[in-house]
Amino acid sequence: MKNRYTLLSLGIIFLLLSMFILNSCAKKEETIKIGVAGPMTGDQSKMGMDVKNGAELAIKEWNQRGGALGKKIELLVEDDQHDPKQAVAVANKLVNAGIAGVIGHFNSSASIPASSVYNKAKIPMITPASTNPQFTEQGFTNVFRVCGRDDQQGLVAATFVANILKLRKVAVIHDKTTYGQGLADEFVKAMGNKVEVIYYSGIIQGDKDFRAVLTALKGRKPQLLYFGGIYTEGGLLIKQARELGLNIPFMSGDGVIDAKFVEIAGPASEGSYLTFSPDPAHLPSAKDFLTSYRSNYGEPGPYSIYSYDAANVMLNAITTAQTIEGEKISTVIHAMKHSGALGEMQWDKKGDVLKSPYIVWTTRNGKFEEHWKPVEAAQ
Ligand code: ALA
Repeated sequence: MKNRYTLLSLGIIFLLLSMFILNSCAKKEETIKIGVAGPMTGDQSKMGMDVKNGAELAIKEWNQRGGALGKKIELLVEDDQHDPKQAVAVANKLVNAGIAGVIGHFNSSASIPASSVYNKAKIPMITPASTNPQFTEQGFTNVFRVCGRDDQQGLVAATFVANILKLRKVAVIHDKTTYGQGLADEFVKAMGNKVEVIYYSGIIQGDKDFRAVLTALKGRKPQLLYFGGIYTEGGLLIKQARELGLNIPFMSGDGVIDAKFVEIAGPASEGSYLTFSPDPAHLPSAKDFLTSYRSNYGEPGPYSIYSYDAANVMLNAITTAQTIEGEKISTVIHAMKHSGALGEMQWDKKGDVLKSPYIVWTTRNGKFEEHWKPVEAAQ
């Protein structure tokens, strides 16, 4: 009797276990999960949402065409608040959720720490926007970017200041982040001994009053103020500089070229110089993206198109690899030639794009327009 009960209980346990295993397998197979991570809330949420929207649009189009590997694609959105610790927490969350790949993060200070988590899990990571060189200098085979690097961006800014504006004395301020300080240092390095840095200092992200620093640098009589950082502080810096009567040109990089900069700085933003890639409005390959993005979300931000392309690269690689096994997807990306909205893209061994032209933009009447192209970018 006792034996019969034991057998019966074992049978029931076996049945329940099989049902559980079958059920979780079926669940795992339901969708292909792609993560997107960036500063979705807070002071940089404009750029976070641009990146979320770009990836979302790409995935929507894939799903309209039937998905990938016969499955629907699901986008998991995570907010890292541009905080390194939060970025690691979010990366662990996405890995545990079973993502096949991640589009992100946005800030270098988030992407670099998060990349160790994705690397351990062998999950491919494509950042649309993290430009700090270190991201692809870690020897990881699963990390890629579709944007350029700050050594390239800093060089273009330095060439413009030294050879085009022909200035000899500049002030440099950065926001002490991996990106901001990194970009400022690349700019200084690229100027070599052609231009003298007569003031160099860091500010704190989140601070609102930069008058002390601006007063100190005004006394040194620089011919230009270069800023490594994001639009929030960049906008306030130039606004307060003008209020203090500091009427020298302002220059910064990709973290500042956003409509939010103009909104924060107001008329003080006029005539600023900002390095970024050429206007996608001139690219025939970007036409469909621009129409579709505008009808879904309004005017794209600078990195929306990068995120859109990054998501398409990931999904094309998954389709080519015919699997969601991370290592295989990364191998495909290293070898692929992608024709996206930004044109043709290919990657080197580190995961950097082979071509990433930077040009100088300026603000005129509250809008950004192309201003100067180095010879390589003009080709
Ligand atoms: N390019 C900026 C960064 O790397 C957004 O953080």
